[in-house]
Amino acid sequence: MGTEKRTYISSGKAKDIYENSNDTLIFEFTDRVTAFDGKKKSEYHDKGKITCEIAEYWFKVLENNGIPTHYIECPTPTSMIVKKLDIVPVEVIWRNYVAGSLLRRYEAGDIVLPEGAEPKEGSPIPGGMIEFTTKFEAVDRPVNTDEIISKEWLNEEEIKYLTDLTKRINQIISQELADSDIILADFKVEYGRTSNGEIILADEVGTPDGCRFWNKDDFEKGVITSLDKDVFRKDSGDLTLTYRKLYNNLKKTNM
Ligand code: ADP
Ligand code: TMP
Ligand code: ASP
Repeated sequence: MGTEKRTYISSGKAKDIYENSNDTLIFEFTDRVTAFDGKKKSEYHDKGKITCEIAEYWFKVLENNGIPTHYIECPTPTSMIVKKLDIVPVEVIWRNYVAGSLLRRYEAGDIVLPEGAEPKEGSPIPGGMIEFTTKFEAVDRPVNTDEIISKEWLNEEEIKYLTDLTKRINQIISQELADSDIILADFKVEYGRTSNGEIILADEVGTPDGCRFWNKDDFEKGVITSLDKDVFRKDSGDLTLTYRKLYNNLKKTNM
């Protein structure tokens, strides 16, 4: 399968999207990075290549573990051919530790933390937790299952299916990382419907754009060292160097 016939469709915040055939797309992973709903933007050398390679690795691991995904192949180091889907208008977030918007929403008095979790970055969430956010609104916001059902984004059975699938994805990635120096703190995934109605994993998975990864050694000493996009969000390090560090760690024990 080549990339010769591709027709440009659109650009997202990090990827350019091309049509490859009636039922496949090509994602071009670019060096663009954004945060805070696009308000903060930049470009980092090699980001596209590193995220594409990491996403490809995790798609293969997940497929080998029985998770249905849109991944077909990577014809170049920065491009991925995927099945064209009707994207579910809900993003799914899995959290193993307290961080990011969960802590911010707790501090603002908007939510209570799950039982057993402390209001501190890095506090484990016993059993983990799932959250949903909107996907196609100008600013993504948390949504509860009642709203998801009433807006007909997903039905009750589909929510249960995607909850189980996301939990399984967390188990598979966390298990794969068991012998590495990396902790999976949380992540976001997207799903889409195929033409015959099956819901499968879409977009990208396991990349430092869509996950929080922490250095395990440092974490055990009480220090959180981010190996993900938090270095860009917080201006705490160079994104290319950070993503390369994650990639090299994965190469050592996994890829
Ligand atoms: P965003 O601006 O949403 O962060 P990206 O730059 O990551 O987007 O571009 C990818 C876009 O393609 C996203 O809007 C994502 O929902 C969408 N997408 C992901 N997988 C598929 C698929 N298999 N079919 C159609 N659209 C997809
Ligand atoms: P949050 O703490 O900002 O809600 O993010 C939780 C995880 O989901 C974190 O790993 C970043 C990821 N994420 C995305 O990749 N895209 C998004 O739009 C959001 C809200 C989160
Ligand atoms: N939803 C956030 C944004 O659009 C995601 C992030 O911070 O990565 O900026």
